[in-house]
Amino acid sequence: MRLLVTGGAGYVGSHMVKALLRAGHSVLTLDDFSTGRRPELPGEILVRGSIADAPLLDAIFGEAPFDAVLHFAARSIVSESTRDPAAYWASNVGGTLVLLEAMRRRGVLRLVFSSSAAVYGDCGARPIPEDALRRPVNAYGKTKLAVEHALEDWETAYGVRSVRLRYFNAAGADEEGELCERHQPETHLIPLALQAAAGERGPLPLYGEDYPTQDGTCVRDYVHVSDLCDAHLLALARLQSGQSGAAYNLGNSRGYSVREVLHGVESVTGMRVPVRKGGRRPGDPAVLVADSARARRQLGWRPRHEALGAMIESAWRAMAGHVTPRASAVLSPH
Ligand code: UFG
Repeated sequence: MRLLVTGGAGYVGSHMVKALLRAGHSVLTLDDFSTGRRPELPGEILVRGSIADAPLLDAIFGEAPFDAVLHFAARSIVSESTRDPAAYWASNVGGTLVLLEAMRRRGVLRLVFSSSAAVYGDCGARPIPEDALRRPVNAYGKTKLAVEHALEDWETAYGVRSVRLRYFNAAGADEEGELCERHQPETHLIPLALQAAAGERGPLPLYGEDYPTQDGTCVRDYVHVSDLCDAHLLALARLQSGQSGAAYNLGNSRGYSVREVLHGVESVTGMRVPVRKGGRRPGDPAVLVADSARARRQLGWRPRHEALGAMIESAWRAMAGHVTPRASAVLSPH
């Protein structure tokens, strides 16, 4: 297939580009490099630009017919979205509407959308099925939900079919350790804990120990980035076979508290993670654990890296290949 990947320089997007190229597809990556960072991968066409640039999208779609779009480009930091919701609505919703209209103009009628567990908020269901109440508690989740609603309308009215993949907490890195999770700034628990263990940064702030969970810290469902890529390939196959759009949860249906993740990091690295009390972070739901039975049943999705330890280990290996010389001296294989 000939595919457009928006946000293909980001964490999940770059793993996806690699997986698509490996599967023999032709890939054009569109990224504004506002947060993503990586060199061009052999075989891809990399375009620097925005999903909100309608003339650029017309030029891209006018070059050659595209079979589908994989839409990763978005702002995705929950805490930032509560401080600056306007930026999130403009990029995540405004930008996506420009993209959808360009697709419609050019007759590109298949889309795989990176949605999020954040659409559920504190919905109360444990684990969360796809038909649970979607009541986001932060602006990031609200923008993802708004796009999901738009996609439902675009499918009914204009025949743009879409698979909405609701990621729970993406973790880990590709097996070769070529790509890794390194946001600028980094806000995610596993890379931060690894960096704190390696002495690359100071103590990790523990955001809240008074949640209604077993040890008072938030519980999340971690899913390996390569398993997310597998789900995208299956979603593309679903659309390619002419089936209707749908929404799927992508998680392992097993929750880990922040403290459990920190223990996992300590046992993988053999180093202590220094922590400090941080107080609750605005916009954090207490528990997010997926019921992913629908993705397994309808897409045939089978996560291959379910163990949290294996996810942390792959993140640690990849990080060792991407750190500064000073920090790499501290990293030792475990
Ligand atoms: N945490 C800390 N200290 C830190 C960083 C995180 O205690 O320095 C805690 C957070 O409070 C949260 C947990 O670790 O309880 C996980 O936090 P992350 O920032 O790694 O991930 P989030 O759960 O906030 O968000 C991620 C994605 C979202 C997605 C969500 C879905 O970034 O895009 O998972 O579950 F919506």
